[in-house]
Amino acid sequence: DKLKVVVCRDLGPDVMPLLLNNPQLDVVVWPHNKVCERKWLLENAQGASGILVMLSEKVDDELLDTAGPKLRVVSTMSVGYEHADLKALLTRGVRFGYTPDVLTDAVADLSVMLALMAGRNAKETTEIVQTGQWPNFVWSPFAFCGPQLSTITTDPSASALTPTTRTAGFIGFGRIAQATLARLVPFGFARCLYTGNQRTPQDPAADAALAAKFGVREVRRVELAELARESDAVFVLAPGGAATYHIVDEAFLKGMKKTAVLVNTARGTLVDSDALAKALHEGWLYGAGIDVVEGEPNVGLDHPLVKAPRCIVLPHIGSATNETRLGMATLAAKNLLAGLLGQEMPAELSTSR
Ligand code: GLV
Ligand code: GLV
Repeated sequence: DKLKVVVCRDLGPDVMPLLLNNPQLDVVVWPHNKVCERKWLLENAQGASGILVMLSEKVDDELLDTAGPKLRVVSTMSVGYEHADLKALLTRGVRFGYTPDVLTDAVADLSVMLALMAGRNAKETTEIVQTGQWPNFVWSPFAFCGPQLSTITTDPSASALTPTTRTAGFIGFGRIAQATLARLVPFGFARCLYTGNQRTPQDPAADAALAAKFGVREVRRVELAELARESDAVFVLAPGGAATYHIVDEAFLKGMKKTAVLVNTARGTLVDSDALAKALHEGWLYGAGIDVVEGEPNVGLDHPLVKAPRCIVLPHIGSATNETRLGMATLAAKNLLAGLLGQEMPAELSTSR
């Protein structure tokens, strides 16, 4: 008997053959270039041994019950897994694959890009050109000046670069955050503060080891208030979900430096959009670079963050490079295959966490 597999999006000519050419599988693929319809998924999931989903597909009791007892594995082409009910998977003994690591560099790149864009007011400056206003723009010595992310020698008589004091703040300090820190060190960031999973104890020795690894003066886990107060750039890089909902709220934003930038490349739910829009209008911080918005993709021209000054909003493209998306699709397919055959999966998430 062939194993039935449901794939919620066409993963392209480099990856689909891994599944389609496997003689043990009977593969059903959602045939459209848009989000897989729930009705189609439920119809086709019946009797499936494996399901490959995107962030857009809810993996819940209904889907798992519809698939039935043959289901062995669900594989998601994403590192985030808020769309999956891990307990529901655990109770049924269904394994779960995801795509960590392969997207770390792409998201770290985008995080630095957004910090730079926010600091240099890329929103209004690109708008000036795109709306044809450059000919009318009156240059002035300090027009469009924002905070510089890198540190320069401000004392012209100094013979060497002065020690830098730029501080990066990370809400969540996993793989992507650490890859972002590595990119910031050459800019002159010398301190790194982060908020961690509060269930794990403070570990000064581990922090010192990280400081040595990255070549910075200090890496330290702090409370949110200190992180807000001290950081020149704050990066939101924690998982979504109830534990981190609106962790960046009005109080946090009020506590930030007026010259600081905020970057969110994690999940929209971590940031209170209305509070951030208010903060930007009132100048509590300088700018923001936002790749994820609560309620996305319903983010129209009237959204408070789209209307907010010095706020760059991107449509969730953190992992959108050729190399990374190919890596994610390949890993998702390999996770699915390994899970179907009862083998070790390249990236399995423990559902008992
Ligand atoms: C993207 O947001 C992902 O979770 O992969
Ligand atoms: C998320 O998966 C991260 O690596 O930070």
